[in-house]
Amino acid sequence: MNAESGFEIKPVYDSGDLPDDLGGKLGRPGEYPYTRGVYPTMYTKRPWTMRQYAGFGTAAESNARYHQLLKAGTMGLSVAFDLPTQMGYDSDEPIAHGEVGKVGVAIDSIDDMRRLFRDIPLDKVSTSMTINAPGSVLLLLYQLVAEEQGVPGSALQGTIQNDILKEYIARGTYIFPPKPSLRLVADTFAYCRAEIPKWNTISISGYHMAEAGASPAQEIAFTLANGIEYVRAAIAAGLAVDDFAPRLSFFFVARTTLLEEIAKFRAARRMWARIMRDEFGAKNPKSQMLRFHTQTAGVQLTAQQPEVNLVRVAVQALGAVAGGTQSLHTNAYDEAIALPTEKSARLALRTQQVLAYETGLVDTVDPFAGSYVIEAMTDEVEAAATALIERVFSHGSAVDAIEQGFQKQEIETSAYRISQEIDGGERVVVGVNRFGADEEEKYEPLRVDPKIEADQAARLATLRAERDGAAVEAALADLRKAAEGTDNVLPPMREALRRRATVGEVCHTLRGVWGVYHPVEHF
Ligand code: 3HC
Repeated sequence: MNAESGFEIKPVYDSGDLPDDLGGKLGRPGEYPYTRGVYPTMYTKRPWTMRQYAGFGTAAESNARYHQLLKAGTMGLSVAFDLPTQMGYDSDEPIAHGEVGKVGVAIDSIDDMRRLFRDIPLDKVSTSMTINAPGSVLLLLYQLVAEEQGVPGSALQGTIQNDILKEYIARGTYIFPPKPSLRLVADTFAYCRAEIPKWNTISISGYHMAEAGASPAQEIAFTLANGIEYVRAAIAAGLAVDDFAPRLSFFFVARTTLLEEIAKFRAARRMWARIMRDEFGAKNPKSQMLRFHTQTAGVQLTAQQPEVNLVRVAVQALGAVAGGTQSLHTNAYDEAIALPTEKSARLALRTQQVLAYETGLVDTVDPFAGSYVIEAMTDEVEAAATALIERVFSHGSAVDAIEQGFQKQEIETSAYRISQEIDGGERVVVGVNRFGADEEEKYEPLRVDPKIEADQAARLATLRAERDGAAVEAALADLRKAAEGTDNVLPPMREALRRRATVGEVCHTLRGVWGVYHPVEHF
């Protein structure tokens, strides 16, 4: 029995476990239904993007870490924001106390964004930003800073996570109710098509639901169901599917259960291709390609014997690469204890470099294709996830299912089963419930200086004193008017940010019009 999801793993697979028309079911690499990968050549021409999630403290501190990572060979940036930024509050608001710069970098204004990317040419990197409810705000700050560097929006490459539905289900950094949130997502799709055409407008995420306990089939099902909801919302807002679908992207976890994870990624690609072609009539092949980022499973890192995590992360990363990921973050071995140190962050990157440059894995596309067990599991995950998507939509829309607590309850049931199996020893966690160590070696975690909160508040006071307050007020009034009507809110939002309105002020303006989301409690 596979501990992850209850699938039977047979001791022996053989040709009888292969589907009859294997070739037809798989398709060729880079061709519909993309089971074998979204590009014909996959890594044989260039490896996946090694994109390490990083950010803490002030913009200047995070900028230094980005320069370290770029020097160490990371191929793309990935910004972690602190909770006040993710929730649309400024660092000097009482609600932000104690969280400023803690789980990511504090960004309050265009001044901070400028510091974050100092001496980083924004036409030469692709930048992912893990930001959801205020995703459009941070994207516009990035565009404004690029403009100051002389880089036009048409040259910018990157992604905002912008996936508000999974925030209601599993992560919690939501602000507005579902309806205005989906409007803001659709406005962002339309804005990027016109102004930042190479930008990936959303990273529809299964990672956080998986970290909350979702099985592989649940992770795929609930993520693709959210994807369907976004596509429907964008079409309802008047967008043509091939005008925005090529820039949708996804984000999944890689667990230590190697075989099922490889099968999971392959099944997800085949499912999304069919959904986009058959349900939405997408004609552009790029609309049918499920391109995704992977992060190794944070929840499987242990604080006990933390070096053992180096092995877990290597196996998880192997699964992501064998599964055809486009971009990968490998966790640092010490992250169950604290934010990664410079050394542990470098080791995490080196893990990817060993896979890319020492294993030969990049020399051929979809190396596990045709494997009896992988093809059987790919079919099993696909069937289970397809059935689960139908159960989501039996509640109405994905939002209806969320508001009825369906996904949350399904994930909690799965999480409970996992914790029972760990407590009972059925699921081994090396170093935790088996193979313990008599004593742990000393470890020095990275500490974020709490003084940064006062520094950040002082910078905000200077900004508010220096800027043209009347011009900011006028721009925020324009934003309010757009939010009250149906005009795209991003242009007036950009103007307010250019005039040095803060992230909190922009989000408070929208809170004043749209209100905030209050989760429905289900017991
Ligand atoms: N053949 C042809 N073209 C290829 C190719 C190949 N083999 N390989 C790459 N390319 C092209 C691509 O077509 C693309 O060009 P285009 O943009 O013009 O189409 C370009 O080269 C870049 O390739 P990819 O798009 O495949 O790779 P990127 O790295 O640029 O993008 C992505 C990957 C998944 C599409 C993108 O959305 C991305 O980078 N996502 C990252 C998301 C992320 O980092 N999230 C972090 C979350 S952390 C978090 O949530 C917090 C915590 O709680 C976990």
